Order: sequence, then structure tokens, then C-alpha cells
Amino acid sequence: MPASEIIQAKAAGHVDTPAPTPVQVAEPFALIIFGATGALTHSKLLPALFSLWQGNFFGTPFIIVGVGRRDKTDNQFRDELRDAAETHDRIHASDRNAWESFAENVIYHRSDFTVAESYSTLAERLQGLEKERGLGGNRLFYLATDSDQFARIIKELAAVGLVQREATQPWTRVVVEKPFGKDVTSARTLDEDILRVLHEEQIFRIDHYLGKETVQNLLSFRFGNAIFDPLFNSRYVDHVQITMAEVDGMEGRRGAYYDGAGALRDVVQNHLLQLLALVAMEPPASLGAKDVHDEKVRVLRQLVPGGGKDGSGWVVRGQYGTGTREGRPARAYREEEAVATNSTTETYLALRLGVDTPRWAGVPFLLRTGKGLARRVTEIAIEFKQAPLRLFTAATQNGDLCDRTCNCGADCRCGIAYAEPSVLAFRIQPDEGISLSFSAKQPGMQLVLQPVRMDFLYGQSFKQALPEAYERLLLDALRGDLTLFMRSDEVTTAWEFVTPILEAWERQPAPNFPNYAAGSWGPVEADRLLSGCQREWRQFQ
Ligand code: BG6
Repeated sequence: MPASEIIQAKAAGHVDTPAPTPVQVAEPFALIIFGATGALTHSKLLPALFSLWQGNFFGTPFIIVGVGRRDKTDNQFRDELRDAAETHDRIHASDRNAWESFAENVIYHRSDFTVAESYSTLAERLQGLEKERGLGGNRLFYLATDSDQFARIIKELAAVGLVQREATQPWTRVVVEKPFGKDVTSARTLDEDILRVLHEEQIFRIDHYLGKETVQNLLSFRFGNAIFDPLFNSRYVDHVQITMAEVDGMEGRRGAYYDGAGALRDVVQNHLLQLLALVAMEPPASLGAKDVHDEKVRVLRQLVPGGGKDGSGWVVRGQYGTGTREGRPARAYREEEAVATNSTTETYLALRLGVDTPRWAGVPFLLRTGKGLARRVTEIAIEFKQAPLRLFTAATQNGDLCDRTCNCGADCRCGIAYAEPSVLAFRIQPDEGISLSFSAKQPGMQLVLQPVRMDFLYGQSFKQALPEAYERLLLDALRGDLTLFMRSDEVTTAWEFVTPILEAWERQPAPNFPNYAAGSWGPVEADRLLSGCQREWRQFQ
């Protein structure tokens, strides 16, 4: 595009960012997925791999071997994957031919990974395929199984020589899904077991939130602009709210996993604490994996309960009862498939905590997440303090400063010049973007302030669709880039912080669940976590 056209396009706010040179996987490889018949493989992994292939990110020969216990042919497996991808709207009718070419690289291998002998059969099959297709022996193993199986699978793979600790060429890497362990002790044991067989650099602990474009943008926004990060500290910030709300309950047999996990293990220990670390961390020395991980760990080490002085009152848990979802009656969690009828698993969790660093000391970080809530939204909101000069704060009828809680009644004119505190909100999903809310004078003869918003929306500023998190993460794992994965000490430090909550729950009497209706915003007790903050929980329409 000539420069003049670029300038015009920029002025119109629609720049087609020049496509960067594709960051291709440079070497041939075999990707072996354990848990190949599971939902993750069908709904996320294979669609992501197909998309990478279509985007020309695999410049060399490759194979994808799905390992599962069920008996099926390669073609049955390929068809199932295609049907699932279509159901999830990840491939369309027009992609059919492309899918057929891609699927020639997809192989199914029936194997029971709980049986030691099955690994030598896998080794033989894999070596045969690698030879036949000239793949050279680079291998990425993806463990999409229950975390109880990780150590065993890796040990057996090592026993038959499929993973090697010292090998750099050809390389061997292993991706493990979250949750990594069930508490700090099991996470440490798992680490020790795995690190006996592999180097830290060979282990890719995945947290798919780190692959989301909007999450990656947090560091670019903070450290790529000179004007925002200087405000990220206790002098200007009243509190930070991180919300990850989901409408869905337990679809399919999801309850079978979730009932043994709960919100704390499922998303707080990983996704929410990772988001917090990215918002609170100091600038890293570089964007390399080590420097980024070092800074995140520093934040996680400094987490402190942010409630009462005795540490109580900083966690609110809940479980949904019957209610409505998208206008239709919704069942209670305890009525969901594969969930115990007297389950005490938390489907909602809100926490108030602090980050005890010079930058953040005294600033509450409020985290909340839940299933069966009113709306699907993930957002990080930085809520700024009131402007220090109370020029725009009117007096109430009693002479107090108006904070809009004056209850003056219908004639109230207190808030007329009230300046709402500014909010910087990172919308992780949906409607991805960043917005800044601040007060502006309403045009007219009186001084009336009104909150207004400046919005950046990905959909408006960029023409290309956002890549799926798994696309980026699979590509990085194939290229050996660990930056967007979790390092061992990140995982264990996060567990160190949350494990005492699990232990406290064990000591307490069974909670009185359910305590919120499906389709609501969670238990009302969560409101008390905001005491002393200028605001309420953020509302989403
Ligand atoms: C997963 C959790 O890690 O993240 C699920 O196990 C949750 O329970 C999911 O639903 C949410 O992911 P996303 O990308 O849809 O926000």
C-alpha cells in the first residue's frame, strides 16, 4: 500500500497491519497427544493445529499422533475431529478440502497409557512413522490427561527412550495441562518426579489464558507506553478488580472433573493469579522467558490475604442452586451430571488480597470467578482514587461530602458536580479491548459531571481475527519458546498461597450450599470484600 493510502487508512482508524513474516516451525516434528479422545483435543488442540497449518506455520513435514484407549481407525479419528471442529464452529464447509489434506498428517494410536507394555508399542509405531516421513526425531508430547497421570506417562516414555533428558537435537518437549497438582505438596512431588526425567526447559506447563491475545497485550500496554504504568501504584489506584465470570454450568460430563477440583484449583490458582501477576509485576529486564518469569514469581511471593488482620474474611465461596440461564430454567450444581448430590465443591469464589511490594502495599486486589453466573466476561479493572482536590465534590444537605450514598431523596442535588473515579478496564473477553472511563463536564450552563468512556476495541482497530490461545501456545511449544508457559516456581508459589485456603475449608463445617441462584452474580456475602473501597463489584450488562 502506498504511504499516502496508509496515512488515509490510519486516519480512518483501519490499518491493515502488514502481515509479519510467519514465525514458522523450522524443523520437522511429531506431536503426540495423550488424551486424544477427550474434549480438549477435539474442541481446542486440533482446531488450533489446523489453523496453524492453514496459516503456513508448519513449513516442514510433521505428524500428529493421537493416543487414546478406544479402538478406532485413523479415518474414524480424523472424521470425529472434523465433526467436532465443525460443531465448535472452528472449521467451515469451505475448509473441507483443506482439512482432508491436513488430516493426512493425523494418526490414531490405540494404547492404554496405564499399561507399561503399551509404551514400547508406541515407541515402535512412532519410530516407524518418523522414518517413513523423514521427521528426524523431534517430539512434542502433549499430556491432555488428568494430572494424576503426568508423572507416570513421562516416566514410561523415558523408560522406552521416547523422551531423553540430555537430548537437544533432536529435541523432546512435554506440554502438561493444568491444574498442575492438587495442592502445594502434590505439585512439588509432581515436579520432582518430572524433573528426574526432564530438564525444566523441556517442560511446558500450559495456562491457556497466557496465550490469549488480550492477556499478552497487558505487558505491551503497560511497558510499551510511557503514560499508563507510572499510574499503576498505591498512590493512584484505589483497588483492582479481576472478574472471570462464566454462564455455563457443567456441560456434558465436565462435572466428573470439576467436582474434584472446584473454582480455586480450576481457575484461581492459575488463570486469575497469572492475570494478577501480569498487572502487578515490575518491568522485566527483557521480554525473555527468564526475566518475565522472575518478575511474576516476585509478585506471587508477595501475595497476602487482604481481609481482617487475622487473615479471616478475605475469601467467599459459593455454589449455584437452581435459577435461570439464558431465559430458561437452570438446574442446581448438585443436580448436574457426574456431580455428587451433596457436593460441597465451590463453583464461585471471591477473594480480597494484597501485593506486599512498595508499588502496591495497601491496594486491595479483588478477584472473583464463578460458573452459572449472569454473563460471560473476563475483565481486569484498575479503579483509580478520587482526584485529591475535592473540587468536584458537592456537600450533602447535612454538610458532609457527597459520595452519592447520601440518601437525600428525590430532591438530592448533591451529586451534581461529583467526579466519578476513573477506571481503566482491560476486557479480556468477549468484546476484547481496553476502555478508560473518566468524568467530563456535560455541555450546558451548569457544572454537571458525567462519566464518559474512551474505547479501544480490537474489532475496530485491527482487521484480522484474534488467534485462539492454543494456536499461539502450540506454536511456541513447537518453537521451544517458554515465555508464555508457567515455570515450576510460578506454579508452586501460587499453590503456596492458595493451599492454606483449602486447608482452612477442611477444618470448617460444611458450607451452607447452594448460596446463589444460577444466572445471578453470585452470593451477596461477596459484597463485604469491598468494604473500604470506593466502589462496588463491577456490573456488566
Ligand atoms: C479452563 C477451566 O481452564 O478455562 C474451565 O478448566 C473454564 O473450567 C475455562 O471454563 C475458561 O476458559 P475460557 O478461555 O473460555 O475463558
